[in-house]
Parts: sequence; C-alpha cells; structure tokens
Amino acid sequence: MKFTISFILSIIFAVGVVAFGFTFFQSTNERTKLDRELEVRIAHISDELFKANPSFFKETDHLKIELLADSLRKQFNLLGFALYFNYDSILSNSSVTRLLNYSKAYILRSLTADTSVGSFFKSGNMQIYQYVRPIRNSSRSNLAVVFYTDAGYIDKVIGSIWFRNFIGWFIQAFLVSVITLLLIRWGILNQVNKIVVWAKAIRTGNIRQIKPEPHLDFLDPLHKEIESIAKAMNEAKATAEEEARLRSSAEAIWTPERLKVEMENLLQNRKMIVVSNREPYMHIHDGKDIKCIVPASGMITAMEPILKACSGLWIASGTGDADRETVNKYNKVEVPPEEPKYTLRRLWLTKEDERHFYYGFSNEGLWPLCHIAHTRPIFRNDDWKYYKKVNEDFAKVILEETRDEEQPFILIQDFHFALLPELIKREKPNAKVAIFWHIPWPNPESFGICPWQREILIGMLGADLIGFHTQYHCNHFLETVNNVLESRVLWEDFSVKKAGHTTFVKPFPISIAFTLKDYDVNATKIKASELLSEFGLTSRFIGIGVDRIDYTKGIVEKFLSIERFLEKNPSYVGKFTFVQIGAPSRTLIKSYADTVSAVENEAIRINLRFKSKNWKAILLLKKHHSHEQIAPFYVSADFCMVTSLHDGMNLVAKEFVASRNHNDGTLILSRFAGASQELQGAIIINPYDIEKSADAIKQALEMTKEDQYQRMIQMRLVIVRHNIYSWAASLLRTMASIN
Ligand code: G6P
Repeated sequence: MKFTISFILSIIFAVGVVAFGFTFFQSTNERTKLDRELEVRIAHISDELFKANPSFFKETDHLKIELLADSLRKQFNLLGFALYFNYDSILSNSSVTRLLNYSKAYILRSLTADTSVGSFFKSGNMQIYQYVRPIRNSSRSNLAVVFYTDAGYIDKVIGSIWFRNFIGWFIQAFLVSVITLLLIRWGILNQVNKIVVWAKAIRTGNIRQIKPEPHLDFLDPLHKEIESIAKAMNEAKATAEEEARLRSSAEAIWTPERLKVEMENLLQNRKMIVVSNREPYMHIHDGKDIKCIVPASGMITAMEPILKACSGLWIASGTGDADRETVNKYNKVEVPPEEPKYTLRRLWLTKEDERHFYYGFSNEGLWPLCHIAHTRPIFRNDDWKYYKKVNEDFAKVILEETRDEEQPFILIQDFHFALLPELIKREKPNAKVAIFWHIPWPNPESFGICPWQREILIGMLGADLIGFHTQYHCNHFLETVNNVLESRVLWEDFSVKKAGHTTFVKPFPISIAFTLKDYDVNATKIKASELLSEFGLTSRFIGIGVDRIDYTKGIVEKFLSIERFLEKNPSYVGKFTFVQIGAPSRTLIKSYADTVSAVENEAIRINLRFKSKNWKAILLLKKHHSHEQIAPFYVSADFCMVTSLHDGMNLVAKEFVASRNHNDGTLILSRFAGASQELQGAIIINPYDIEKSADAIKQALEMTKEDQYQRMIQMRLVIVRHNIYSWAASLLRTMASIN
C-alpha cells in the first residue's frame, strides 16, 4: 500500500482546517479582550479628565484646546478630542478635525441614549477608536465630548497572532500526522501487507507461503482470524481439489456395475453363495396381508447391495412367520420382491435349534464373549450341541446347492457359522471359502474362557480367508490361534498354516452402498418441528440415534449424557429433542429384555425430569423402522450419536454421513466402534464418560458451518472411496488370488 499525492494533500488540507479553526478562535478572543481594554482605558481617561477640570468642555479658545490635546497625547497617547455643542458647532484640536464627519452619527446616538458609546472606524490607513461621552449640564443643552485614539495596534496584535499561531498549529498538527502516518506505514501497514500477501497466496494456491509471522500484539485477534480463515480456505481448497479429482477419475470409484464386471472376471462362471443366519427379506403376516421387511442388521445393510449388483444365491434361516408361504418347493424366493435381482434360499430352524443355536450359543455365548460390554457370556453344553448341528445343517444345504460346482465361492457371514468353513472344505476342498466376522474379536485371554475355543478356531481356519473390520481384530485372532492351536502363525503376511492348509487373516473395513450418484442426491431437509409434529411435539434442534436395542450399543449411556447436557445447558430445555429409533432385538434373552426396560425407564425418567408442554427431551421410537422411515431423520437431524460400548464397525455412522448431501450436521461417534478409525471428522467420544459426551452434544449443536463442512466432506469422501462395492471387490480378489 502506498501514500498517494491526493492522500497527502487531503491530510495537509485537514491539518490546515484544524490550524485555521484554532487560530480563528484565539484571535477572536484576543480582539474582544483588546477592544474591551481600550474602551475601559478611554472611559477611565475621560473620568480622570472631568475630575481634574470639570468645566473644560466650556472651553472655546482654540489655543487652549490645542494645548489640552497636546497634553492628552503626551500623557495618554490620544489623538485628540472634540467638543460637541450642536450639529453645526463642533470644536476640536486640528489633528482630529478630519475625523469629525465619522463621529456625528455616533454623537447623536450617544446623546439620544444618554450613554457613552465607543466605536471603531477607518480613516485612510488608520484604524481609529472614538469614545463619545454625553455631558449633562444645567442648561439642558445637548453637549458631548469625543476622544480619539489610534487603534491600529489591535490589528497588529491580531495579525501577529494569526501569523504565529496558525503557522505553529499547522506545523504541530502536520508533524503529528506525518509521524502517525509513518508509524502506521511501518507498523500496521507492513502487517496488513503481509496479510495481503497471505490472502494472495491462498487465492493463487501458493499455500507454502502461509506461515506464522511476528506481529504487533494489538493485531493478534485479526492475525488469528486471518490465520484460521487461511487454514479453512486451504482445507476447503484441498477438499475441493480432492473432490474434483474424485469426479474426474470417477471410474476409480466402485459402482454396482463395475463390481458386476469384476465378479464376472473373477468368478469365471463359478457360483457365488452368501451364507448368513439372518435373512435379507423376512415375510411376516400383517392382518390378512403378508408384508416383506428388511431386518435391522448391519450385516444385511452391507451384503444386500452386493447381491443386488451381482446376483447369486443367499442362504439364510427363514424366520418370518409368513416365510414358508412365500417360497417355492425348493425353499427359494426371488428378492427384492418389487424387482428381483437374486435368489434367497431359506433354511428352517426348529424351535429347539433357534433356542440353543441362535439365542443360546450365538447370542448368549459368542456375542457377549466378543463384545467387551460387561455382560457375561453363558456357555451351555446343549447350546453348543445345537450350534454344531445347525452349522452342519447349513453345510449340507450349501453342499447340495454346489453339488455340480467344482470351485464355488462361498462367503460365510458372522459368528453364527464359525464351524462352517471346515465343514465345507472337508467335503469340497476346492471350494473358495471366506468367513467375515462382523463383530469384534477380543484378546486371547478374554476369548480363552470359551470352553470350545479350539473347535471354533479349527472350524474357522477351514476357510481360505478370514476377514475382520480392523487389523486390531486380526491381530487378536492370530494371537488367540497362536496361544491355543498347534499351528504356525506367519506374521509377515498375516496367515496361519495348519495341517498343510493356509488361511489368510485380513482386515476389510465394511461399508455401505454409496457411490458418486448417491453423493449428488439432493435430499430435502425437513425442519425439526415438522419431523416431530406427528408425535405432537415441537423442538428447534434434533439429535438422532438408530440402534438395535442391544446392551452393546450404549443407549442408556447415551440417554445419561443427554440428561447431563440439558442439566449443564438449561437454555436447550424445550429446544432440543433426541430421537432414538430403537429396533427391539433378541428379546427372548434376559439381558436384552432388561436392556429394553432400562432404555424405556431412562427415557421416561429423563422426560419427567425436564417435563414441558409439547416437548420431550427424548423421543423413543421403539419399533422396527424401514430405511425409508429412517431417512428423513438422517437427512434433517443436527447430529447423529453412536455410543457403542464395543462394535465391529457400525454402519449407522456411515449411513448418517452418506445422507448429508449438504455437507452439514455432525457425527458423535464412540471410539469403541470400528468406524471411528475411518471417520475422523466425527466428534470421537468415550461413551462411558458421561460428562464429556454431554459436552460433545453441545459442541455438535454449536459447531460452525465451516467446521461441519470440513468434517463432513472428509468423511463422505472416505465412504465414497471405500464403499461396499470396493469392499466386495477387494475381498473377492483376495479370495481369488489364494491358491
Ligand atoms: C449384528 C450381527 C449380524 C446380525 C445383526 C442383527 O450386526 O453382526 O449378523 O444380523 O447384528 O442381529 P440379529 O440377531 O437380529 O440377526
């Protein structure tokens, strides 16, 4: 920035106006003072004169008048005086005779007012002061005396004031301005110039120039602001570039179509079978009708899009009460019902199978064994027997379905089927078998309490590939194998060699069906009050939680942190509602039934505590919800809160992020969920720490739009690049590459 001529001239003008103002004020005061002094002095002289010679105005002798005038000049520096008898008869000393014409009007005014009058006038080059004094006398004639004095000195004094003071003020003000300008130039403008350079560097993408600079203290706030704006712009720019790169290399993003082609290449006409306990579509009676629902399960959320994209066969337990009515004679049904893409083969469990295999060993044994959520696993001999039996039943069905296949690809899902890999391989050694463990794997000591740990490990190691969400779980698994079995764990390529068979143990963080097409979907946001109106509630802010009601999900802890948040921030009472969608799950198990009661009781207690008309702190929607019913909450909530005490991945977190096409909103995510390793834009919490979780809610509600944007876009990019199609491609490629 430079000082231009016009800028300097403006300063000079301003300084001149100020100096003029001051000088004018001073000279006017001085003139008033001098005028007043002169008047007082002449009045005083006239008084003295009258006292000394009371009848001198009767004098008509010219000589005496001249002599008196001469004495007045010497004593008082007067020019002279005049005696007024009437308009035509005025006597004066000779040196003031020429001034009489200026005095007549004043004399008359003084006589009329019967008071002394002083005034200035100019005669030639001279400034004269005249003082008229009426004289009362016994004959009542109009007599007056006029004194004249030279008042030129007053103009001289004022002139010198103008000269000295105006110049003095001007120079002072000018110097102060110049010094101030120089200080600004060297001090502030230098800093401002640096900021300009930064801003330019950011605009032109020369990001390395943006480094901290020494600066003046008082510029600290501005400096900090600019620094954070620069940082935010940098990040936004990097993200935008990343996004642009992503779009321009759209073929790098996995899509259903791309996966289909990849699978055709990998499978080479070989059959692919997915096996799970939970079926992707469940037919249930609804009055006289039969309806089809998608059960609440992260495993299904992940696997279903793969089958939809690539067809194949999915074998699962038929658990819907109308399932038998909807299959053909081979126990098969084409799904999805509205637009079939693949085949679901249902397998029927007996009541006893369900009780011991599903509720018993799977969900009262393995589930709490693998989740460190402080619910004790229960191991019953009968449960274990049925676990083995149902695994064998599934193996039979799989072998039957692949009877004519030399090398089918079999993808086994989850902890329900730890024994299946070995059962299949024993009969069909060429089959490519993978098992993906959707839940965590605990450390060897924890796993060691399972009485059948050897059998489980041997069963799993029948597979060619064992997948977990994280390397951490892979390591735990390998350590467990190392501790329990006679085998070789090869840490260099994370594999296990046992009886001549190699099993690879690798992480495949699971994901959701989120492609660039979904990335750009423009979902409409709904206001909190509208979302809540069907429940007779109103609120300004909404938080959302979507969970199966399971003790591992930390729902009670979540409610406690909501309570603490409202306690610490009473201004949100009446303005913030947390909507908890909770699908009842495994309710025949005591620990699950207890969890449902605990969740309900906490919601009721907290709602009573903060009771208010048309408002609730927690809206608990305890029933199964379809994806379509959940979607508006995902799209419109201010934040989503996932508080798992232990979780393999947690796809709710990813679904919420994927729904935020405006790149706003906040995710609060438990550090004990696998997703927290990928979704680093989330506010990461320890759900056991109620105080900090309450603070996280405040942080989420008050986060700036820029911050939300930065975090959300980072997470959305992670998910779009690592979507379920890339997960499937990577898993199947690894399977195919194993000999
Ligand atoms: C977890 C498991 C899935 C299971 C789901 C629902 O996500 O990993 O395999 O399907 O919970 O549980 P459920 O017992 O209802 O199938």
